[in-house]
Amino acid sequence: MVSLSVEKKVKMIDTEILKVDRKNIELEKIKEAARLINKGDLVIFPTETVYGLGADGLNGEACKKIFLAKGRPQDNPLILHVADLDMVSKLAVGLEDKDFDLMKNLWPGPLTLIYRKSHLVPDEVTAGGPTVGIRFPSNEIANALIREAKTAIAAPSANLSGKPSPTNSADVKEDMDGRVSCIIDGGSSDIGIESTVVDMTEKNPVILRPGFYTLEYLEEYMPGISIDPALKTGAIPKSPGQKYRHYAPNAEMITFVGQPKKVRAEILSYIEAAKKENKKIGVMSFDEDEAYGVDLELKMGSFSDISEMGRMLFSNLRKFDQAKVDLILGVGVYEKGYGVSIMNRMKKASSGKIIYVD
Ligand code: TXA
Ligand code: MG
Repeated sequence: MVSLSVEKKVKMIDTEILKVDRKNIELEKIKEAARLINKGDLVIFPTETVYGLGADGLNGEACKKIFLAKGRPQDNPLILHVADLDMVSKLAVGLEDKDFDLMKNLWPGPLTLIYRKSHLVPDEVTAGGPTVGIRFPSNEIANALIREAKTAIAAPSANLSGKPSPTNSADVKEDMDGRVSCIIDGGSSDIGIESTVVDMTEKNPVILRPGFYTLEYLEEYMPGISIDPALKTGAIPKSPGQKYRHYAPNAEMITFVGQPKKVRAEILSYIEAAKKENKKIGVMSFDEDEAYGVDLELKMGSFSDISEMGRMLFSNLRKFDQAKVDLILGVGVYEKGYGVSIMNRMKKASSGKIIYVD
């Protein structure tokens, strides 16, 4: 509903597409995009996680445009992207040596750290709150853009609010063509799901959104770290973004978790029932799985390496929507390690419809 009323106000503009090879970056193109950021325009750029919808993070008016372009609820704060630690000192207050040690160990990378904000950070970024999320991405193009713009770049994922985050330029264009001044096409995202968000303002760090950096990995650097219990219990989470329907395809989706043979049998019985109702059916399964004989079957790599699943999840969900399937039956994974993060996204895509068959 929010997005509908916001939609009306979006004036369509020409979107310039800049194709950039991240291994051989043409600086002129980056400078052009940086000029647009500095003038208060929106520029979409690749990161290692998903594409970001960027604006000058120190310019409140520019940041307002992000909410309009995405149809994003105003109470959902943005994260600021930086390209060096000096920038962090300007954006956050109360930082200690141990915080900088952490950043040096874990950045650049798929990790957003939440600290108390400095006076430089506009209310549009923090949704009026006292804290700010900061991330130093590792993608070369993102780095070059931030360095050339000489500012922190505020950027949520570059999808329309409620849709899966885009992980390639075609998916970006589907949502954002005509809504931003420029899209930098830098190929497919390496990781495919958004950064791990960690609240550093509590006595011990708390994971507000699970991502590629898992609890087990972060524990080594952040003793005492835990996962926000609200992510499990369904209480109101501290990360505002976690409360919205999100990453969701248009089709109904059900995710199945358990021993492979039992998962297969259960999915086959759902397929039989759905066929009787003449539904167009999609299945998302692992390379090792035998074909299910449905309208669209998409693979998500081998179950022996679920990082491939993370890379393909969001683009697969969009492919099911493009094919207009009515029902998506997805094979899920156990919630351990990176499986926690992947299932966080699959649960949202499935609106909580997870069937455990063990
Ligand atoms: O990987 C990523 O993080 C991508 C790329 C573009 O960097 N960005 C991204 O941004 O996913 P966004 O806005 O889609 O998600 C940021 C999440 C939201 O759930 C938001 O509510 C939460 O971080 N967040 C941002 N600032 C916060 C704050 N000060 N306190 C608590 N949560 C915050
Ligand atoms: Mg997002």
